Amino acid sequence: ALNLKGRDFLALVDYTPEEVRYLIDLAIELKRKQKAGEVYHPLLGKTLGMIFEKSSTRTRVSFEVGMYQLGGQALFLSKNDLQIGRGEPIADTAQVLSRYLDGIMIRTFAHRTIIELARAATVPVINGLTDTNHPCQALCDYQTILEHKGRLEGLKLAYIGDGNNMVHSLLMGAAKLGVNISVATPAGYEPDEEIVQLSKQHAKETGAQIYLTQDPKEAIADADVVYTDVWASMGFEQEQQDREKAFASFQVNEALAKYAKSDYLFMHCLPAHRGEEVSEGVIDGKHSIIFDQAENRLHAQKAIMAATM
Ligand code: CP
Ligand code: NVA
Repeated sequence: ALNLKGRDFLALVDYTPEEVRYLIDLAIELKRKQKAGEVYHPLLGKTLGMIFEKSSTRTRVSFEVGMYQLGGQALFLSKNDLQIGRGEPIADTAQVLSRYLDGIMIRTFAHRTIIELARAATVPVINGLTDTNHPCQALCDYQTILEHKGRLEGLKLAYIGDGNNMVHSLLMGAAKLGVNISVATPAGYEPDEEIVQLSKQHAKETGAQIYLTQDPKEAIADADVVYTDVWASMGFEQEQQDREKAFASFQVNEALAKYAKSDYLFMHCLPAHRGEEVSEGVIDGKHSIIFDQAENRLHAQKAIMAATM
């Protein structure tokens, strides 16, 4: 097995293709153990602190339950109750928390906050979502695709919608795992240019193809997996109305899905807005695997924690 002890999990770019694949395989093994009722407590007596500066259902519950299942415990730390809410520096918070905890998970706004936290912390730091990345979600998504399709390399994933944190992590994951990815966004809502270039660079190692367009039909053509996310992410709520206009022709619905492969999988990290980025028929239809995805947050994060803490 690979040794990832002590490593941060901030973005998939920091992990080699072999390491990403190792975490997915470990997630599948931990899932099997859990379903078989095998007790597995590698983190007995350890504590994870979970700092939340944004709302969460899946991330909070899956980390907390996952830590419990691995023999440890988790602390929910809301920004409103911590002294960071009153201006205590992130670096001080990181050093103090490192004296009590064995790992820190944080969901925050700017990516530089997590970089700062990780630099000052002496325990592993896990990214529970920033404005630019959502690596835990992408890891569990590729696990879910592997479970459903039996392979990853050479598959085509189409992402239709906002060039946000979700697509950034899906892009880097695709590059690391040899998945071909086509991204359709409206003009002005493209993914970050630096992350796209970095993903293309890493894709050379696996042969993954990365393609960007403003045409949803082109992106979705012959796709094995169709993925979308909300049009206005957390922190961008005030842009909702403008975005509804810009994204009007980017809804994943039955008409658009016709261009995908007939056995395509529909995915969404959730929470979803039915009738906006996806039609009710598609998200609640027979191609949708959204709840398998949500479940795998638990298993994938247990793998990250068991490997790094
Ligand atoms: N997908 C996801 O991260 O969900 P939460 O915001 O509920 O954690
Ligand atoms: N892109 C969404 C993902 C939520 C899990 C957001 O950042 O709000």
